Parts: sequence; C-alpha cells; structure tokens
Amino acid sequence: MYTVNTLNRKQQVKKLFRFFTMYGFSRTYIKTMGRLRYNNIIKIPITVFKKNKKNIAVVGCGQFAFATIGFFLRNKLGRCFYGVYDIDKANATSLANYYGGMVFEDANELITNPNVEVLYVASNHFTHTEYAIKGLEAGKTVYLEKPISVNHEQFSKLIKSYNVNQNKLFVGYNRPFSPSVKTILSYLNNDKRTPLTLNCFISGHKIPEDNWYRNPEEGTRVCGNVGHWIDLAIHFLYKVGLPKRLQVSIQASSSEEVDDNLTITFISEIGDLITIVLTSRTEPFEGINETINFQHGEVIAKIDDFRRMTLWKSDELIKERYFRKDVGHKNAIYQPFNNENTRDFNEVKISTLLMLDIKEAVLKNKKEFIFTINETDHTRP
Ligand SMILES: NC(=O)c1ccc[n+]([C@@H]2O[C@H](COP(=O)([O-])OP(=O)(O)OC[C@H]3O[C@@H](n4cnc5c(N)ncnc54)[C@H](O)[C@@H]3O)[C@@H](O)[C@H]2O)c1
Repeated sequence: MYTVNTLNRKQQVKKLFRFFTMYGFSRTYIKTMGRLRYNNIIKIPITVFKKNKKNIAVVGCGQFAFATIGFFLRNKLGRCFYGVYDIDKANATSLANYYGGMVFEDANELITNPNVEVLYVASNHFTHTEYAIKGLEAGKTVYLEKPISVNHEQFSKLIKSYNVNQNKLFVGYNRPFSPSVKTILSYLNNDKRTPLTLNCFISGHKIPEDNWYRNPEEGTRVCGNVGHWIDLAIHFLYKVGLPKRLQVSIQASSSEEVDDNLTITFISEIGDLITIVLTSRTEPFEGINETINFQHGEVIAKIDDFRRMTLWKSDELIKERYFRKDVGHKNAIYQPFNNENTRDFNEVKISTLLMLDIKEAVLKNKKEFIFTINETDHTRP
C-alpha cells in the first residue's frame, strides 16, 4: 500500500468515478474496501452457489491480497480461503472477515497445515523467498508475488528448494498475461530472428520515504517495481529467441535517488533495443500508468496503459479496447488452477537474475555492465 493519500473529498469522488470507468463497479468497490476494511459490508463478488474446497492460504494480507488476489479467487472459486496470516493482525482479520478463512497467529502453522494445498504470498518483498521455500518444503503449490527474491543469496536458495522439492511455483509478474501482450505475441512471425525494439514508459506511484518499499532490505524500486518491465522484456525476448548477452546501461536523473526517475537500456548482440523509463515525480491520479511501444519484424504495436492497444502488421490494423483495464492480474492469479495459461519459470529465473544484477549496479552507482544469458545457470556463485 503505497499511495500518497492527500486527496480532498471532491478529488476522492472524482477518483472513484474514474475507477468505475476503468475497472467497473465490483473491482472499484473491492479496491475501496481494501483501503477502508469495514466490517459487515456486502461481500462482492456474491458467490453463494460456489462450493469449492477451502484449501488456500494467504500470507501477507495488505491491499494487493484484498483487492486483487482475494477478488479474483473468490470470483472463480467462491469462499476458498482456509487460513490467512499477517504480522499485522488487523489486516489478517479484516481479510478473513471479508473472504472467509481462519486467522493464524503463526505463519509456519498455516503453511504446513495439511488442509492447505495452495499458498499465496503477498507480504513485504524481503520475506517472499522465505515463505515460498517454506511452502515448497511443505509440499504446497506456491503463488509468489513479485519480486521472488531481493538478493542473490535468497534467489539461490529459492532455486535450490524449487529444484529439490519439484512443487509448482507460480509468480506474480502479470504483464505477460495481459490481453494486449498476448495479442502482440500472436502476430509475431518467428521464422527469422530479427531485432526487437521495446520501450516502456511508466508513471509510477510516488513512494514516500517512510514507506516499507524504501527499507534497504526490500531491494529498492528495481525489485519493487521495475522488475515488472524487466520481466516483460525477457518475456518478449524469450518468445522471439533469447540473445546471448545484453549490454545494460542505467541512468538515474539524480545521484540522491538512484532507484527512481531513471532509465534502463538493454542492447543485445542481435541488435535488440529495450528501454525502460520510470518516472514518479508526482502521484498519478488514476494509479500507475504505462505506455508500451513495440516493434518486431512487420509488427508495430502500442499499448496505452493496458486500456487500449493498436497493432499494425503491414497493411493490417488491429485496435483493441479493454474494459476493464487489464494488466493481466486475473490470469496470473489463476495460474495454479489453469494448466493452459501458466508462465515458463525459466523466463522468470532469467528476468530475476537480470533484475538483481541491475539492483546491485544501481546501489553501487555502476552505470554499465554486460549480462550474459545462460539458460541453465540462474544463480551467482
Ligand atoms: N503484481 C502486481 O501488479 C502487484 C501490485 C501491487 C502489489 N503487488 C505485490 O503485493 C505484495 C503486497 O503489496 P501491497 O500493495 O498489498 O502492500 P501492503 O503494504 O498493502 O501489504 C503488505 C502486507 O504485508 C504484511 N507483512 C509485512 N511483513 C510481513 C511478514 N513478515 N509476514 C507476513 N506479512 C507481512 C503487512 O503487514 C501488510 O499487511 C508486494 O509483494 C507487492 O509487490 C503486486
């Protein structure tokens, strides 16, 4: 939860209205309730006829668990939470009041409970790896929010545990599940490996200094936010054919604030050109806003904040509008229940390794380095 909440009443009403037009009634309602956490309110989506197993555990019961994970799981599976845990008991209690499930005082007890089959982790970034490993070791399917690790040591441990335990591990990088990205990929012609160009311009949340995202152990905004577009870039590269190496350049606009208002560029030996720009000098009124431009072969595409997409392929013109704005959350969250639409974990391993190298470079004020893509080794010594 990291928005700057300084809106007056008139602006709050305006924001609600804009959210209705972007997300529809139910999602706006849930997003609002996630912030307010009232008791005894109408519980949307109404799912009295869905009688699914209560076999899901949620660790980390903040805004994302409430407004996104809870919403989509309830929509698909009904009241499916077995138990929830958060170090902030009020957050755990309000999530359980709304979606059902027992409030646990101890994360281990919940994760190892035999009734739990699927574990969703949406806590602070530093704790993701540890909870995921506990879940894997307990034999659970794990859905781990981004980032999956905030340093190389955590990442090595996670990969080891994943390899040893062989359980299913799904990750919350959702942009590849958006309909706009899916449409672009469906138009690519991969007969010949030609260079790809990708530009992501992100107006991100203005994160206050005292927000937990800023704590040094949380992995900077590179792990907290930029990881999404690093991962999206690897997703596109994976689909057209991974290059062998990326020349990475990082430029922050201020030496005082190395992980914000910055640009990151990747150039591959094939000529792929990828640029990510994060700006967060003001809080975007309608939430994070992304403009993504893409070119590969004959395909040129523009994604306008996952609300619209235009694609040209030679003389073909495709225009799509998405009501509701769809960054891919729903399908990413459904991965444990939908074998047809899951992410290849190898992609996420590569994108995480790249993200962690960028995070380290940012902290050391290193502006350039070469990232070698090795599809079998995903850990640093
Ligand atoms: N995929 C996406 O697009 C997306 C969007 C927003 C947030 N997220 C992710 O969701 C996660 C939660 O973000 P949020 O916006 O809900 O933040 P939040 O601050 O609202 O919630 C974080 C919750 O984690 C709890 N927590 C902190 N330390 C914990 C611990 N040791 N054990 C258990 N719980 C702990 C906090 O008490 C809080 O309830 C983050 O990983 C974030 O990156 C993903």
